[in-house]
Amino acid sequence: MDRIGRLVSWDAEPPSSEAALVLAEGRVVWSGPRTQAPPCDRRLDADGGCVLPGFVDSHTHLVFGGDRAEEFQARLAGAAYAAGGIATTVAATRATPTAELARRAHRLADEALRSGTTTLEVKSGYGLTVADELRCLQAAAAVTPHRTLLGAHVVPDGTTAAEYVDLVAGPMTAACAGQATGVDAFCERGAFDAEQCRQVLLAGAALGLTVHVHANQLGPGPGAQLAAALGAASADHCTHLSDGDLTALRDADVTAVLVPAAEFSTRSVYAPARRLLDAGVTVALATDCNPGTSFTTSMPFVIALACRELGMSPTEAVRAATLGGASALRQDEVGHLRPGARADLIVLDAPAESWLAYRPGVDLLRHVVRGGELVR
Ligand code: NIG
Ligand code: FE
Repeated sequence: MDRIGRLVSWDAEPPSSEAALVLAEGRVVWSGPRTQAPPCDRRLDADGGCVLPGFVDSHTHLVFGGDRAEEFQARLAGAAYAAGGIATTVAATRATPTAELARRAHRLADEALRSGTTTLEVKSGYGLTVADELRCLQAAAAVTPHRTLLGAHVVPDGTTAAEYVDLVAGPMTAACAGQATGVDAFCERGAFDAEQCRQVLLAGAALGLTVHVHANQLGPGPGAQLAAALGAASADHCTHLSDGDLTALRDADVTAVLVPAAEFSTRSVYAPARRLLDAGVTVALATDCNPGTSFTTSMPFVIALACRELGMSPTEAVRAATLGGASALRQDEVGHLRPGARADLIVLDAPAESWLAYRPGVDLLRHVVRGGELVR
């Protein structure tokens, strides 16, 4: 990759100019000034554009049936978001064959890839029976190795919370662990309390799953502290945090995954990104792609929102959308372009990463490379 106008590799600070990258066997093997680049058998010309690591979208719910466009329109007319809308998607998902769920997930994952997402996490959570959660994870397997069991999304009709938590922590986790790499729980009033989440998350952790928590999304609560106490990889959403939550996340090295497109769609207050960054918490940005609160796969849109609404600088936002996402997934080979990294990168039709916020809603991606292959 030659004639890079600005290389954001998270190696040297500040990003280098007049740079080149050498890729071999799907990896970055060299980066530095273009005049010193070793000879290569193929050359891709960045034409002075800015090169970034591919985006790492560490939080999506993109396996689902149906849509919720009417609910979105009702919100535009003033209705508030309520987690109860999840039941609509659960019914539609249960009624959708697995192959069709996989086909739909594929379409969304392709859409994400075209907008620069080269690593994608996908949660289940719209099945809420052992068989349906397993089907959702199998559909997700068609698009990504990073799959999270979110059986504890809401309590389905026809059961009590206690019974359902026993099902999720017991037979559901046992049946799904082979299809998942992570476990998550929605710790929120109206979903699951801290003890119920702890039971589910510990069951997943005991089978080797990486722990994530939907924490403090709709109001203050115990989710962030629970994530810290369990040594979770991430606490996600994090919209309503106390100062104690910030220190707990920092001290336990939990990545805070912020999803401003959800606040945009639900017309809610945005997460306190500045307080998190100033407290020394690792911050990630993700889409939260789902039919209820955030129906977008676009990390460039999320970055633009983070700059405009969360007070993040463009460089902080891009770092959170790449290295931050990798931290949330505990993946150290993606999210940067240091030698040894997976060759996942984006060439912008722009001189600097700030243009992602400066030119919102404009497709600025000239090329996308994943695993060393030019996919766009
Ligand atoms: O991340 N917080 C819980 N789950 C989703 C929303 C699910 C839905 O409304 O369908 C979220 O925002
Ligand atoms: Fe979410």
